[in-house]
Amino acid sequence: MFNNRVKIKELLQSESTGRQVVVMGWVRTFRNNQFIALNDGSTNNNLQVVVELGLLDEATLKRITTGASLKVTGEVVASLGKGQKYEVKAQTIEILGDSDAEKYPLQPKKHSLEFLREKAHLRFRTNTFGSVFRIRHSLAFAIHKFFNDRGFLYLHTPVITASDAEGAGEMFRVTTLPFDNPPRNDDGSVNFKEDFFGKSTNLTVSGQLEGELGAMAFAEIYTFGPTFRAENSNTTRHLAEFWMIEPEMAFSDLEDNMNLAEALLKYLIGYVMVNNREDLEFLAQRLQEEEKQKPQAERSELGLIEKLEFVLNNAFERITYTEAIDILLESPAYKKKKFTYDIQWGTDLQSEHERYLVEKHFKKPVIVTAYPKEIKAFYMRQNDDGKTVAAMDILAPGIGEIVGGSQREERLEKLEEKMAQMHIPAEELSWYLDTRRFGTVPHAGFGLGFERLVLFLTGMTNIRDVIPFARTPRNCEF
Ligand code: 4AD
Ligand code: MG
Repeated sequence: MFNNRVKIKELLQSESTGRQVVVMGWVRTFRNNQFIALNDGSTNNNLQVVVELGLLDEATLKRITTGASLKVTGEVVASLGKGQKYEVKAQTIEILGDSDAEKYPLQPKKHSLEFLREKAHLRFRTNTFGSVFRIRHSLAFAIHKFFNDRGFLYLHTPVITASDAEGAGEMFRVTTLPFDNPPRNDDGSVNFKEDFFGKSTNLTVSGQLEGELGAMAFAEIYTFGPTFRAENSNTTRHLAEFWMIEPEMAFSDLEDNMNLAEALLKYLIGYVMVNNREDLEFLAQRLQEEEKQKPQAERSELGLIEKLEFVLNNAFERITYTEAIDILLESPAYKKKKFTYDIQWGTDLQSEHERYLVEKHFKKPVIVTAYPKEIKAFYMRQNDDGKTVAAMDILAPGIGEIVGGSQREERLEKLEEKMAQMHIPAEELSWYLDTRRFGTVPHAGFGLGFERLVLFLTGMTNIRDVIPFARTPRNCEF
């Protein structure tokens, strides 16, 4: 058996000295031919391995370079150096993999996030990305736990579909047809009957429609998977491939939906505060350093952990879209013409407006409901005013929209009417309409953007830094 190692996190936490251990990891630094800082990804805290004089020959010592991988056997002893309680006094050191110090891209110094994005295959080995991806992992785990504990069924919705759930036409096509010379119909259009699935297909933009089918049998379901959008938005908040959590609940209205979303976000914050304390503290510190570079006026009032505590301990503000517009129209920012985009009842809130509401006006997460029906998807339930729908978006400080959801239109005639108005062919969604034909019930659900959640919890500011390998317009490396 090769893997008889103890994880560094575990070793540093246990209170016993004198025991023999095997540790393996990658060298972060090697000082004075004597002190190796070894990291195995279980924690940002490196293990200090002490190499006593004469243990290794000159040639081997030279091979202990930043990035090299080692297997160390030795004894756990109390550390005299500052910064750690325990260290390992090496008895044997085996070099598993060399790393040419001249060529290794990660030098033991601070690199910019932009530089590390180009080296995304190695950036997991830095403290910042170590913390970010351990928190991302924890969040994924906590999401499953939250829903499982509440009796929601995890439904695997398809990645390849023939429908556009959001009706926004931002889909990546899936095809096996030769694109230089595809089969054509008499009128010159591509003949998708000859394609792999016998029809035109694409990558899913959302699992919601299939999720609704599940909710009409299991009552409470959730999906958690990758979704794809071919929207040409090169921003710090958009990815072409992102992960989304989508619960769907039968026998529920918009208020139930808001309550669930708020409870989920608070649960996740609480989970990470307890289970990823060390990584959060590291990122909070990092953010504080970063903020120091900014002019006073742009600095955030709260540190990362204080911000999370604040969100955890305060009820989210709940307002209607109409109220939001009124607040914006009355705002000093509007009066001083600080906004780039116009504000008018009926147009969508731009990110600058959302951030004003959250960061300047309310200073906490805000749930905006009852949006004009024209700017929202076809499946949202029409309100009695005839102008708005039972939508809800949750806006988070520093992020903007983090959740988008709604109560669904459960009334067959209303839904058919809406689809006709929006030119969505009813034949293609007859399976969806069946749930309204056979035992329809009030139901609601939402989508939480996983990467936006990770941004929120880590204090990172670019979405490319919270997904292992980002897919954005003109960028698909690794
Ligand atoms: O608001 P959206 O488009 O809603 C839906 O897809 C619904 N079908 C969800 C539902 O009701 N089941 O997307 C939901 C969330 C957004 O609030 C945002 O957090 C995230 O998904 N999101 C993105 N995240 C990263 N990159 C993108 N391009 C995103 N588009 C949406
Ligand atoms: Mg949305």
